[in-house]
Amino acid sequence: MKKKIFILLSILMILSMVLVACAPKEPEVSPEEPAAPAEELAVGIVLPTRDEPRWIQDQSRFQTALERAGYTVEILFSQGDPSIEKANVEALITKGVKVIILCPHDSAAAAASAEAARAAGVTIISYDRLITGTDAVDYYVTFDSIAVGEAQAQYLVDKAEGTDNPLFLYAGAATDNNAFLFFEGAWNVLQPKIADGTFYIVNSSQAIALQDKATLTRDEMGNIIAQITTNWDFNDAKSLAEANLTAAPAADKGDVFILAPNDGTGRALADAFTADSDVTSYVVTGQDAEIASVQYIIDGKQSMTVLKDVRMLVDDAIAMAISVVTGATVETTGEYDNGVTMVPAKQSMVITVDQSNVVEALIDSGYYEASQFTGLD
Ligand code: BGC
Repeated sequence: MKKKIFILLSILMILSMVLVACAPKEPEVSPEEPAAPAEELAVGIVLPTRDEPRWIQDQSRFQTALERAGYTVEILFSQGDPSIEKANVEALITKGVKVIILCPHDSAAAAASAEAARAAGVTIISYDRLITGTDAVDYYVTFDSIAVGEAQAQYLVDKAEGTDNPLFLYAGAATDNNAFLFFEGAWNVLQPKIADGTFYIVNSSQAIALQDKATLTRDEMGNIIAQITTNWDFNDAKSLAEANLTAAPAADKGDVFILAPNDGTGRALADAFTADSDVTSYVVTGQDAEIASVQYIIDGKQSMTVLKDVRMLVDDAIAMAISVVTGATVETTGEYDNGVTMVPAKQSMVITVDQSNVVEALIDSGYYEASQFTGLD
């Protein structure tokens, strides 16, 4: 017995000597060596799709901000599919992240991803779009989305003269909680101007049926959005506009006003309205200050956009994530009701941009380079 134990111990000793000899050596630090690579932050980011410039902009702004802060993190895209989104979240959980910054494709469907994270002890920061119907959302960083809709509508109001101006309404995807907030903001400003005869709605019987109501319920907004949704899709926006223009008599065209929910759909709508010879002029809104839309504004093809300075949102999300990882106090400024819980939130302001302030708001501010555009003198 003693002999067996002795042999076993000797084998173990030899094994451990071999292991020590084979273990990778700590690199020797010499003054000539390059600076240490960026530190890996225990955070993952999941964005809704690569197919819209808005989210590519968020990706690159995240990369710039993280590089500046000396961190690397993984950024994944869900390609408009909640099951890919969930797989992305699960992959990040498996990698051991402590925080996931998630912009959901579908606000309600993302509850399952948030719950998977909560079950694994991972903090979820809802980014730009609120994850709804679950208490597994820890924080929310967002722009003031009601103010976005109000700014779009105010622009239309400011450009309208007299009464009986034809108004075409369009909205984002009904799966995106923001689409409701943008529409709510727009309705706040437009409804009184429909009631006083400045505008009349051309393309939504549901909106016409509700036009005397200053405040709409979520279900009522849902009924309108179902008729005027673009699904945040350029092609859907174009087809819907073409169908609306085919159905509308020439008398409902002429000088028209178009509530477009964002830049991508705004450009598609602008193109469809331009192609109709009964349309003499149009005022069309947008949001995101996408490069292509800034060029449309310079060229007079899109009337305005709402600048949501993504650098602010990115900085807020990173600061929040670092606070969670380091155990510091997370700073929030308000809260949002997601149907199940009040989510502590940090909110950023937005700015209306049109031809009159495009240089000041987007070039002088350093948001874009003048060389990214033509026709800026
Ligand atoms: C975002 C907008 C974006 C839209 C379509 C919204 O949730 O807030 O900035 O244009 O989604 O992706």
